[in-house]
Amino acid sequence: MSRMADVPLQRGAEPSNGSAVVRLVGVHKRFDALVVLDGIDLTLREGETTVVIGESGVGKSVILKHIVRLLKPDQGEVYFRDRRIDNLPERDLAAIRPRFGYLFQLNALFDSMTAGQNIAFPLVEHTRKTRDEVAEIVQQKLVMVGLGGMQDRWPAELSGGQKKRIALARAIALDPEIILYDEPTTGLDPPRADEINELIIKLKRELKVTSVVVTHDMASVRKVADRILMLDHGKFIFDGTFEAIMKTDDPRIRCFVEGRCPDEVLKTLHGAASK
Ligand SMILES: Nc1ncnc2c1ncn2[C@@H]1O[C@H](COP(=O)(O)OP(=O)(O)OP(=O)(O)O)[C@@H](O)[C@H]1O
Ligand SMILES: [Mg+2]
Repeated sequence: MSRMADVPLQRGAEPSNGSAVVRLVGVHKRFDALVVLDGIDLTLREGETTVVIGESGVGKSVILKHIVRLLKPDQGEVYFRDRRIDNLPERDLAAIRPRFGYLFQLNALFDSMTAGQNIAFPLVEHTRKTRDEVAEIVQQKLVMVGLGGMQDRWPAELSGGQKKRIALARAIALDPEIILYDEPTTGLDPPRADEINELIIKLKRELKVTSVVVTHDMASVRKVADRILMLDHGKFIFDGTFEAIMKTDDPRIRCFVEGRCPDEVLKTLHGAASK
């Protein structure tokens, strides 16, 4: 993978004062010869929605997987609140994982379970709640995502947007402190995508969650982001607000924001930047 020269990070806003909920410190990750994360630092602050953007294949999902320890860094550290988690044994992670809700890039609903059973799954796995208690929480989460009464539907009977919302209801079943959204609006038409954006905002407001959203949908970025980070060739090249990213004159960021970054242009830009 070609490497860019170190370019100063474009900072568009001062960091907020919220306390750090998650920290990645100097995280490196490679898969064989492919360097995906080249020493990134990332702090998710209490109650904030951080959006990570970047071209396809740049490593956005890999970042999310480090936050919940689905992947371990080759070098660097990951903290949840003040606890270092990248080196924790699996048995100690069991207490931490339920504090994260993860909306996977592909909804990953269990097709052989109804919507209600999908949402109940983490409750049955991680708690000792009674059947009635579980049923009540399932109802409550369905209402929260605007699909009250849909518990008996099968995934095959749901639209793409409804599947996303059921997956989101499952992600919040255990009342997580942090929600990770991987491409939550991809594949949805603009009105359905906007319903998901509204839900991200609602969950932040009503549940006071800390959120991280991976996307390349700029309409979504504009609507939900408190703070935007852009990943490029293993490093963050922007950290700031939507207003600031719209004003940047860095050509790599501009073409992404304007949705006109063909591969050839990107290669030329990176080539020029590294000279
Ligand atoms: N477990 C793995 N083993 C080997 N390579 C991997 C693994 N996970 C990710 N990669 C590679 O790491 C790179 C980054 O992957 P990642 O899924 O994070 O991209 P992304 O930015 O989320 O892309 P997209 O926008 O298409 O979802 C890709 O080249 C991918 O093939
Ligand atoms: Mg991805």
